[in-house]
Amino acid sequence: MIIDPIYSIGIDEMDAQHARWIHLIEEFKVVASGHLLDQTSIAAAKVALVQMLEYTRSHFASEEKFIAAHHYPDLEAHKKHHRKLEAEVIKLGDEIDAHTSNRVPLKLNLLITIWLLEHITQDDAKYARFILEKSAARTR
Ligand SMILES: [Fe+2]
Ligand SMILES: [Fe+2]
Repeated sequence: MIIDPIYSIGIDEMDAQHARWIHLIEEFKVVASGHLLDQTSIAAAKVALVQMLEYTRSHFASEEKFIAAHHYPDLEAHKKHHRKLEAEVIKLGDEIDAHTSNRVPLKLNLLITIWLLEHITQDDAKYARFILEKSAARTR
């Protein structure tokens, strides 16, 4: 999967994971952005959310290992941010669960999907700069 250049942080392995992650976020957004009126649409949103959450967790775990291996000084803050984002995604799942038993149309607040993407362009870009500068200095 090829990353949209606006989301590229310049580290191939992480760019590839981000491309897959963004794809799952977009997929979830497509099924969850309307009013979820029936059990079928709610169930579809739930399936897409679970897939996105699972990949979010595996990407975060892999990224944390990667930046720890590069001795990134802001590792702990970055991990904290990951936990916060995971909690927000889980909250969306709870919101869906709460609606599976009543007849009120469900409208999810999808702001979280914006924060997930912001995380790449701000926080992830920051560790990428650190790692790339370090390796450039080594080859100088
Ligand atoms: Fe990331
Ligand atoms: Fe991250």
